[in-house]
Amino acid sequence: MPLMKQGGNKILLSGVKPTGKPHLGNYFGMMAPVMSLEKTHDSFLMIADYHALTTHQNKEELKEGIFEVALAYLSLGIDLEKTTLFKQSDVPEHTELAWIFDCITTMPYLMRAHAFKDAEAKNKEISVGTFNYPMLMAADILLYQTNMVPVGGDQKQHVEYAKNTAEKFHRLFGQVFSLPEARILSHVGIVLGTDGRKMSKSYGNTISLFASKEEIGRAVMGMVTDSSGDRPENVYALHALLKPKETLEKLYGENKGNYKALKEALVEDLESFIAPLREKREAFASDRSKVLETLKEGGARAREKANETMKTVRDLIGVNL
Ligand code: ADP
Ligand code: TRP
Repeated sequence: MPLMKQGGNKILLSGVKPTGKPHLGNYFGMMAPVMSLEKTHDSFLMIADYHALTTHQNKEELKEGIFEVALAYLSLGIDLEKTTLFKQSDVPEHTELAWIFDCITTMPYLMRAHAFKDAEAKNKEISVGTFNYPMLMAADILLYQTNMVPVGGDQKQHVEYAKNTAEKFHRLFGQVFSLPEARILSHVGIVLGTDGRKMSKSYGNTISLFASKEEIGRAVMGMVTDSSGDRPENVYALHALLKPKETLEKLYGENKGNYKALKEALVEDLESFIAPLREKREAFASDRSKVLETLKEGGARAREKANETMKTVRDLIGVNL
């Protein structure tokens, strides 16, 4: 039987890799939906530091990245009474369960993952961690009896892998996990970066969630625009995250072909959106030890919950005598 859910609420889990400064893609694709579901769900917000290690092997950068993600959630105002903010490495049960999943998963199945194929197409030597990435992510999700996983469209397949892996475990050993579903925000989808590709830290095309006015200006004025129509679609797409469609139709109608004016309007709207967040971030950043304490408490809370699941898992596979 699946374990009882604490508080009777559905359980939500999401993760973000601490590989740089959180950006607008992370915010609109994942953080904002998470915030809107906080009242109706028991939420686990995980900083996926071991996932980050697949690509980022620099001590100082990883430390800073972890701190930045924590600051982002705190600045957005998560309710720490209700929501557990923690880092993956504080709960060793993630890597334990990932190993168990590795043992029941085949190589051909993992080779079908889009992320693996992309990494391989770049012709790099793939690390074992990159290859096993979906199994660590399955463990992240399944340890907490998660019902819902809010992610951008690019992560949909990984959530399906988690669900399939839970079902495989159930067939082999018996029931223990809740089956998770991805929650994709269809009205947002993929947020585009300044070069028109998906906004991503790995493409260097991001606008930080805490960008200064100068940084916003530089990023927006340097945006690659499509010169075929009279509306810069790329600029419009970012703008549409901040302003209602009717307002924008009017603005873009009045400024047909005037890309500079439209970009300047986007700079102003981004600044109004980002400035209050920037201030909150400053306040939290000035008390580093409090942020670390919050993460520590979250880790202990998460570990307790993860161990409820692991106890049953260990019983079912036969390592508890
Ligand atoms: P990055 O690609 O910058 O490394 P991450 O992989 O750390 O971002 O993404 C963290 C979360 O934010 C994931 O749930 C991901 O789907 C979401 N996300 C990242 N970039 C975007 C984007 N451009 N549009 C929508 N969601 C995104
Ligand atoms: N793979 C996710 C990403 O690249 C991050 C992540 C790790 C995650 N574990 C997770 C997301 C569990 C949701 C649930 O963005």
